Amino acid sequence: MPEHLNQKLENIFKPYKTIVVAGGNWGDEGKGKIIDLVMEHYDLAVRYSGGANAGHTVKTPQGVKLVSHLIPCGLAQHKTCVMGRGEFFDARLFSEELAAAKQALGGGLPEIFIDHMSPLWTPWHSLLEGWLELSRGNTKVGTTGKGIGPLEGIYKLRVSPVAGHLLLEKEELVTVLKMLYGVMLPILEKVRGNIPAPESVAEELLSFLPQIGGRITDTSFVLHQALQNGKSLLFEGAQALGLDSHWGTYPFVSSGNSAAAGAAIGAGLPMQSFAATLMVVKTLPTRVGSGPFPSEMWEREEAMFFAKNHSELFGEGAGRAEFLSSMLKKINQKQATAPEMSQYFQVLGDERGATTGRGRSVGFTDIPWLQYACRINGPKWLALTRFDMLSGVKSIPVIVGYKYQGRLLQPGQLPPPWEMSKVETIKEDWPCWTEDISGVSEEKDLPQGAREFLSRLEKAVGVPILLVGTGPGREAAVVRGVA
Ligand code: IMP
Repeated sequence: MPEHLNQKLENIFKPYKTIVVAGGNWGDEGKGKIIDLVMEHYDLAVRYSGGANAGHTVKTPQGVKLVSHLIPCGLAQHKTCVMGRGEFFDARLFSEELAAAKQALGGGLPEIFIDHMSPLWTPWHSLLEGWLELSRGNTKVGTTGKGIGPLEGIYKLRVSPVAGHLLLEKEELVTVLKMLYGVMLPILEKVRGNIPAPESVAEELLSFLPQIGGRITDTSFVLHQALQNGKSLLFEGAQALGLDSHWGTYPFVSSGNSAAAGAAIGAGLPMQSFAATLMVVKTLPTRVGSGPFPSEMWEREEAMFFAKNHSELFGEGAGRAEFLSSMLKKINQKQATAPEMSQYFQVLGDERGATTGRGRSVGFTDIPWLQYACRINGPKWLALTRFDMLSGVKSIPVIVGYKYQGRLLQPGQLPPPWEMSKVETIKEDWPCWTEDISGVSEEKDLPQGAREFLSRLEKAVGVPILLVGTGPGREAAVVRGVA
């Protein structure tokens, strides 16, 4: 990021000793990149929810790519990393991630703390998840397969092993595991496959101890001390409001509290410790897995399989350029169907999941959803990612209202999740711009159409847009002049 923009960010964030960066859609908003930009101005990187289901891709200042699932992505900037109690812990995946990070960063790592009370993954969690998904039939959640639902559920049933149990003697760990095994066995016996015994689970988990042991602690105390010593903290949200287990589209959610408020419980700090929230939203939201998505352009399954069946159009695919130019022409001649628009934006944004490789279904910019997300998350600012995706599009429908049971809902109001498919979306056609804005990093260099789109959007949502993503690179972002 050019120095003068960095200075701008420094001035903006200086008054805020702590900041929560949380997703406002259904994940995959590009939080990694935004966190990376903001991280430079904070001392510690803290995760407060989710687990190995998350996938943030960032680059180190030396340009080395780092994919973080469990470890905060502040690792790339060599910040002290804290994995709070609200994050589910998977010892095996953590060890793999740590090894990859060591290689990417060339050895020396910053301090990484793991909370001693984080729910601990076992192979039984994944077996249970497989069975739960299977027994839901057509209403399966479409999880990432990292055992997240069982991790939260078993913890709430008060029979969960936790990360700190890895520090016990093996026999004591086996005793803890036997309790869970006893509770789960009647269900696990319904699942075909190998059900490992507590002794072998303990052995496997303990094999990771050398990488983990010295990092396990009461992380809320680490954070408390850091604040007392004048350090600044960035709380890295994982997933997003639409996937929060209380405020998302239950039951089609993940099982952590990915809302901004999840930071207080997940990190163990009092509410007054949180100075501001930056909510990251995608210009064109996306969703993977199942569940309500009012602004969706196409059928979920179709969109998910389109990416799988047309790999030649994605990434560096040979047919990509021709496909995009012919689709854009159709869109601008107003001849493209909604599925075709979805295909265009899926290919343009390479909308495929980092953790699962599934295609992501794309939606239109959705103001009522954003108003709801702002009502729950209370952001001071928005970061709008992938704004460059609208370059070259003459105009695009934007969802400006939800009608439910014949009435226009008020800003911030939603029907219950099981009724969301009955919402009628009110669309307006918003002009875009013809110029390519990829890589633009100054507000004055944005074409007028783009600037008008941003002002119109922030006015409608009611929260200023501070950062605008204009491409995948770290420098491809505009810092807007907002109060
Ligand atoms: P789980 O978190 O694996 O239990 O999955 C529950 C739902 O959340 C599924 O629809 C997943 O596709 C979705 N999900 C979980 N993590 C992410 C993420 O990081 N990005 C996008 N979707 C996610």
